[in-house]
Amino acid sequence: MGKLHIVGGGAIGSLIAASAHKNGVPYDCYPRNIRTMPACARWQDGQSIALKAAMPAPVVLEEGDVLILPLKVYQLNAALIQWLPYLTQKPTVVLMHNGMGGLEAARDLLGVDYPLLLATTSHGALKESTLSGDFYVKSTGLGATQVGAPNVDKPSPQKLADLFQVAPLLANAIATLDSALPPVQYQSDILKALWTKLSVNAVINPLTALHNIQNKHIGNTEFEQIRIAICNEFTQVAKAYGLDFDARSVHENVLSVAKATGENYSSMHQDVVHGRRTEIDAINGYIVEMAKKKGIPVPENTLLVERVKALSV
Ligand code: PAF
Repeated sequence: MGKLHIVGGGAIGSLIAASAHKNGVPYDCYPRNIRTMPACARWQDGQSIALKAAMPAPVVLEEGDVLILPLKVYQLNAALIQWLPYLTQKPTVVLMHNGMGGLEAARDLLGVDYPLLLATTSHGALKESTLSGDFYVKSTGLGATQVGAPNVDKPSPQKLADLFQVAPLLANAIATLDSALPPVQYQSDILKALWTKLSVNAVINPLTALHNIQNKHIGNTEFEQIRIAICNEFTQVAKAYGLDFDARSVHENVLSVAKATGENYSSMHQDVVHGRRTEIDAINGYIVEMAKKKGIPVPENTLLVERVKALSV
């Protein structure tokens, strides 16, 4: 099994590290700021686990290693540029972020043939600090991770066993991820899975941030009109790019994720509360940009981008 190298000390990266630790998968963490890297993880059953000390700088990776970047999209370029000199053996790179735009950044910097995986996860995690200022990560809900290989020739292998035939290192990397933080599900059409997640984030994230509410309140009738409008705009834009969604099912899926993650505060809510830059450009902003290229009007998404930007300045 290759070693897992986790970039960034955010909630999801730390959760992956803690779970790798628990499951005996070799790993190292490379946070931007060692001081704010969680020293331990707390599971929902009350158990806690101490994490390995973080690495101060990148190291040259081997071909069978896996470099995972659970970062915000806007942090990705700088992180990939920093890691480029250490990727000469072409270890598998895994992108995991909300919103879109990472694939384009990775293809620009690594090339279109680079062994790349795209992943999206529904595991919940929060990074918190104790009164004495020590950081820890808290698991807030078990989920699943979907992963796919966008740079493997079309047609994409339908099953993981097929991927093992054409790209064994990528398939092994998926197995490593599954050993670290299960379950990991291979998706032959990862772009569709990412657009599905985009639809969820396009509704839940800006509305929870603007109204300062937990995810469960997104199902309230007061938000019905805006939920439906965002889903309709999303569906039209996706269709223009050959992705076939049904607006009603998109809306139902949003409601079920809002319910399943009801007690959570969305990542955008947390970004606004903590005065951090939000991912609005990679979520609703991405829908607006893609719509513009095809001449599709998306007034609700456009307004949400403006309103969230006004919140976070
Ligand atoms: O960004 C988030 O917070 C999450 O992707 C989701 C699914 C909206 C749950 O909070």
